[in-house]
Amino acid sequence: MAKTIADWRRMKEAGEKIVVLTAYDAPMARLLHESGVDILLVGDSLGNVVLGYDSTVPVTMAQMLHHSAAVRRGAPEAFVVTDMPFGSYQCGHRQAVANAILLMKESGCDAVKLEGGAEVAPLVERMTTAGVPVMGHIGLTPQTASLLGGYRVQGRDLPAAEKLLASARALQDAGVFAITLECVPKELAAILSNQIKPPIIGIGAGNGCDGQVLVCSDMFGLYEKFAPKFVKRYANLAPLMRDAASQYVREVRSGHYPDDEHSFTAATDYQSLSGT
Ligand code: KIV
Repeated sequence: MAKTIADWRRMKEAGEKIVVLTAYDAPMARLLHESGVDILLVGDSLGNVVLGYDSTVPVTMAQMLHHSAAVRRGAPEAFVVTDMPFGSYQCGHRQAVANAILLMKESGCDAVKLEGGAEVAPLVERMTTAGVPVMGHIGLTPQTASLLGGYRVQGRDLPAAEKLLASARALQDAGVFAITLECVPKELAAILSNQIKPPIIGIGAGNGCDGQVLVCSDMFGLYEKFAPKFVKRYANLAPLMRDAASQYVREVRSGHYPDDEHSFTAATDYQSLSGT
């Protein structure tokens, strides 16, 4: 049966971990859903791991719509959250709510995620009031990483930790159904998870969170450019794919592929064609 946001709240209350992975296309969405992943996140990490950008900043609404719709087609029964890309929610509440609704209507996702703490709480309230389920995202927020001094651990000192807790509370009061918490010390993440009612989904935030999220290309070892400390590679697919491609290159060049096993045979001798 398809899951709803009530299931995530119930899982937190029951102490069951919520498992989230990113997905960007239909076959990956199908595979991850069949593996028992609870939530598929169409992350704007799409910019880095699929589209070849150096950051998530260039990602557009059109790209998020395109990939989110593919994920929905690949896993019609999955709970799909789609990232609002940078620029789609910073230019006024009206436009932001319209963009969130567009993502839901056109891609079929179940919810949206947006980055920011207390400063985005009034916007989150507008969205949830309009009927859009919202996941927050605090700690390291990649869309504004340059303002944070780069991709670094957040909330290390007490004032920064207090600010994060205040942000989580503001998002909770604004009606988020869950919060992604990225790159914070595990002790702080555990405190937030205990004090905040919506599930806290950690990434680089230790084991005390209510759930975990990873970028699928990182955990499959498909994205070799950079791997943060918190990424565990559950597979190392890039060398396997490179080997397979090299073997194909060799076999095509040497004429070993396609062999008879991978070719069709004629039901006729095509005699009338031979003289032409
Ligand atoms: O875009 C993304 O993949 C994300 C995860 C890092 C949580 O926001």
